[in-house]
Amino acid sequence: MKIELVPSILSSDFSQLGAQAQQAIEGGGSVLHVDVMDGHFVPNLTVGPPVVRSLRKVIQVPMDCHLMIENPDLFIPEFAEAGADWISVHQEACEHLDRTLHLISSHGCKLGVVINPATPVEMLTEVLDLVHHVLVMSVNPGFGGQKFIPNSLNKIAALARMRGERKLEFRIEVDGGVDLTTVGDVVKAGAELLVAGNAVFGHGDVRSNAAKLLEAARSATFARA
Ligand code: DX5
Ligand code: ZN
Repeated sequence: MKIELVPSILSSDFSQLGAQAQQAIEGGGSVLHVDVMDGHFVPNLTVGPPVVRSLRKVIQVPMDCHLMIENPDLFIPEFAEAGADWISVHQEACEHLDRTLHLISSHGCKLGVVINPATPVEMLTEVLDLVHHVLVMSVNPGFGGQKFIPNSLNKIAALARMRGERKLEFRIEVDGGVDLTTVGDVVKAGAELLVAGNAVFGHGDVRSNAAKLLEAARSATFARA
């Protein structure tokens, strides 16, 4: 299992977006997380394909677009064309989840499915063999800097068990409230793609925040082995 830090640009200073994203990558971020919100599925608005297209010019690592939007099918082609490498959609936002996941792969992107804190992992039973990653929301989506919801650890562990039992290969990503105080527990529970916004961009030096968080995550892996 490869532990990866996935900095979320949501908490960055958007006037310095390209430079801050680079700093997070220099600090060890190996995938860049872009939170897309529509003001309907979640009570906040953020960015769309033009920002992905601009970042694509300066960012070499994969871009992980987390779509918190209604009707994601309408926008998947545009995000793919803008340079998204991974696209994830919420189970709760998709009436025809299987169709939407196939749409993502038909555009050449790695596909992910996301569940909110109140959605049980069992809702994903029928799609686990299709997806590249499952994203467990450990806060209610919409805002950075919220407090980690501890029950997310049980959901991560349950997904890791299901993966083992069924000999599947999807990766487990966690998003929300991941910081130096929670990262050890999420890694021990079985998450390997660690999204972090506030902990990386919210204060101090972005590069060293990223490096410290990744280091803490890796020590937790070591402790588990
Ligand atoms: C929240 C977003 C997250 C957010 C996480 O809806 O999906 O990616 O940036 O922020 P932190 O790490 O600050 O909880
Ligand atoms: Zn996110």
